[in-house]
Amino acid sequence: MQKTLSIIKPDAVKALYTGKIIDFIENKGLQIVAKKKMVLTRKQAESFYEVHKEKPFFSELVDFMVSGPVVVQVLTGENAIEHYREIMGSTDPNMAEEDTIRKLYGKNIQCNAVHGSDSSENANTEISFFFSKLELIN
Ligand code: RTP
Ligand code: MG
Repeated sequence: MQKTLSIIKPDAVKALYTGKIIDFIENKGLQIVAKKKMVLTRKQAESFYEVHKEKPFFSELVDFMVSGPVVVQVLTGENAIEHYREIMGSTDPNMAEEDTIRKLYGKNIQCNAVHGSDSSENANTEISFFFSKLELIN
């Protein structure tokens, strides 16, 4: 069993897609072991996406991520990191495969509904960024 970090981004929370996205995740066989709804500070968003700080879209990305509440969740399941990346779909919803979260609920390459960790090292770092051990069910 593996753990991964999921964020339902401000565009999707605002559009009232949270429940549908949670259903989708659970129907695909991943379990939610921790969840919180919060508004990220600019500092938190900058730090979370630090790997992208040299990218041209960085400041827009940070503005977007602080623009409203997000729902941060820890998901668990077999091969959860890769499995969740698969069901999220491509970064750009226009390129995303059918029956993926970004295809169904993403707007554009920035407002693309969800985040998912991309490696087990990043998953551990990202989970600890948002949750203490006591907040995880297992
Ligand atoms: P994420 O980290 O959020 O799971 O997304 P990802 O791996 O699929 O994509 P990544 O390349 O890590 O980009 C992080 C987030 O930055 C925004 N983005 N905007 N304007 C643009 O060209 C652009 N490119 C990326 C998206 O919100 C993307 O998910
Ligand atoms: Mg990424």
